[in-house]
Amino acid sequence: MKVRKAVLPVAGFGTRFLPATKSSSKEMLPLVDKPLIHYAVEDAIDAGIEQIIFITGRGKRAIEDYFDISFELEYHLKAQGKENLVKEMRKISNMADFVYIRQKEPKGLGHAVLRAKDVVGNEPFAVILADDVIQNGKSGTKQLVEVFERYNCSVIGLEEVDPEEVSSYGIVSGAGIEEGVFKLDNFVEKPKKGKAPSNLAIIGRYIFTPFIFEELEKTKPGAKGEIQLTDAIATLSKKEVIYGKTMEGKRFDCGNKLGFLQATIEFALNDENLKDEFEKYLKEVVKC
Ligand code: UTP
Repeated sequence: MKVRKAVLPVAGFGTRFLPATKSSSKEMLPLVDKPLIHYAVEDAIDAGIEQIIFITGRGKRAIEDYFDISFELEYHLKAQGKENLVKEMRKISNMADFVYIRQKEPKGLGHAVLRAKDVVGNEPFAVILADDVIQNGKSGTKQLVEVFERYNCSVIGLEEVDPEEVSSYGIVSGAGIEEGVFKLDNFVEKPKKGKAPSNLAIIGRYIFTPFIFEELEKTKPGAKGEIQLTDAIATLSKKEVIYGKTMEGKRFDCGNKLGFLQATIEFALNDENLKDEFEKYLKEVVKC
């Protein structure tokens, strides 16, 4: 069955970016000139996704406005003769069919995904976290869809991380079955250093069969008192095979300040109109 829908949870408080996220959304932070959420939607579209289901919360109106038509802006741009910009802005609202569901309280990523149960229905779907931006590779979601189409099972995006960093991630282990693809058998949310079953970390790209919803409904609050997606994946794995796929391309964790700054620099150095002057400027600054 084709993967047609993607759930994009954006209801978190983004506390690592306070005060910037006090009145606006972390997912609207831009890498050069496009907000993180735009890259996440592109990742979905490149994988053939037709419907984007945002799980939103209080203070996230900017995301709805971003993917909507802005009549005032278009009127203003037309009056200035900037027809190309009008077209570009219109393209954003035509990228996909957008659906918005409220998560009344941020009770965890698992709780957020479960909110999409009725809209997703009985079909496989993707989950995409806008924090994780993948550069220079194929769309992360597309890479997982390709594995899903071969095995018809849930597939999770993975990255080999430094063993020092395992306690920041959900960690998995399993048997390699083809280049970069693993049949997973062990799932641990944020293990202590030295206690992790491997250094294969879950990153923010997933394809699930609809059976994940049954597991989420049964999942009790875990780490931080939140309903953890990783806990539901672990129980699902006892009933059906789950695969993992290491992602091609460079991943940036834009959910923390350092990762966000690294991504900003690399995206600017890749921007045709900026790169020469920006590189010159960086060299000057680093010399000091
Ligand atoms: P994070 O763990 O990064 O949480 O969530 P956060 O609130 O965004 O950021 P910090 O940790 O406070 O700085 C991963 C993704 O899951 C969403 C977030 O919006 C983010 O995209 N999320 C998290 C929800 O939608 N609901 C939740 O209850 C928790």
